[in-house]
Order: sequence, then structure tokens, then C-alpha cells
Amino acid sequence: MSRIADHPVDPLFTDRWSPRSFTGEAVPDAVLRSAFEAARWAPSAMNAQPWRFLIARPGDAHWERYLDLLMPRNRLWAARASALVLILSALKLDRRGETVDNVSHSFDAGAAWAAFAHQALLLGWHTHGIGGFDRAATRERLNIPDDFAIEAIIALGRKGEIEGLDPEFHASEAPNGRRSIHETVFAGTLATPAFAEERDAA
Ligand SMILES: Cc1cc2nc3c(=O)[nH]c(=O)nc-3n(C[C@H](O)[C@H](O)[C@H](O)COP(=O)(O)O)c2cc1C
Repeated sequence: MSRIADHPVDPLFTDRWSPRSFTGEAVPDAVLRSAFEAARWAPSAMNAQPWRFLIARPGDAHWERYLDLLMPRNRLWAARASALVLILSALKLDRRGETVDNVSHSFDAGAAWAAFAHQALLLGWHTHGIGGFDRAATRERLNIPDDFAIEAIIALGRKGEIEGLDPEFHASEAPNGRRSIHETVFAGTLATPAFAEERDAA
């Protein structure tokens, strides 16, 4: 099933989806560098760039430790990914020499992850966000300082055949849909939709 947009949009945005069937093949450094490069250029409050990325790949010293952090259900499919990327964000920033709270640390890290995901897709690689992992264990085992928030883990891989995926996930292995713009965008307050329900003619 492919996605049909309600309004004109570059296919990049509807082509990005989160499969669970991955081939497990090694991801070239060049692909990772490009995806992280895209993330690097994301906008952020005061250009603080609060995001940090910690990566593990199959066979390296960190891979099994990263897999162990995942909820068992996520481990079932993420074990066939080519990389797991832990996203952190710095809670503080420097404002004219003063260390202050960065209220948009998560917002900005989210922008960076979206750029990462889209650049990876342009190179033929899919991503799948993971919130289901043990954050306390992550902080402790990976020595994450308290002034970094633990945001998410991203699985990156080449999409594989469904036969390689645990049967539990077969039914949901397809791109999903979205709430309409009518139900998402409002005029000034949440009381009134900004746009009528109609869609552009296909
Ligand atoms: C921060 C975040 C956490 C997520 N956590 C999980 C997860 O723990 N397990 C899982 O299977 N999918 C997880 N997902 C995937 C979402 O369910 C998926 O992105 C959403 O349904 C939209 O589908 P799409 O990415 O295919 O467009 C997560 C996605 C994000 C962005």
C-alpha cells in the first residue's frame, strides 16, 4: 500500500515510513555520515544544537548492550537493524556567557531526527523510532550525565522481505495514515479548524 497525500507534497514525506523488516546488512559509513550531516543542519534555538547521537552497529562493542536496553517486543525486530542510534539532548545552553535551561531541547532534537530520517531514505535506508526502551538503564549503563535528556533510539536498516520478520508484526508491516489537516490546524485557538474539510482534487 502506498500513501496518498491529501494535498501536494514531495513524495519524500509520504515515502518515509517505519518498517520492522530489515535485512541486517552492514550500513556504510558514508550513509551514516550523510544522515548525521542532514541532522547537523537542523534549526535549533540559539543555534545551540542540543542533539547528540550515540551509535551501535552489529558486531561492535556496544551492539548487544544497546539491544539489551530495548523492550523485548522491540528487540524482536530491531535485532535485524544495521544500526541503533541513541538520541540525547542537552538540557542547558549558553546564553551570552550564562548557562540557562534550554526549553526547546526536545523540540530541536526532534527536528534533527526528522532530517536524519529523510536523508537516510534518500539514500535507500529506512529508520524506525523506538521509545520502548529502559531509560534508567540507558542512563546508568552508558554513563549519560544528568544534564542530557534521553530522547529516543532510532533503528536504521535496509528494508527486507517480510518473511524475515517475526509473524507478530506481519499485519502492521505497511505504511499507516494520518489525521487530516482539518483536524490538525486551527485558526488562532483550538476552537476552530483553519481549513475546511475538503481535500485537493486528486
Ligand atoms: C519517538 C518515537 C518512539 C517510537 N517508539 C516505537 C516503539 O517503541 N516501537 C515501535 O514498534 N515503534 C515505535 N515508533 C514508531 C511509530 O509507531 C511510527 O513512527 C508511527 O506509527 C508513524 O508511522 P510511520 O513512522 O511509519 O509513518 C516510535 C516512533 C517515534 C518517533
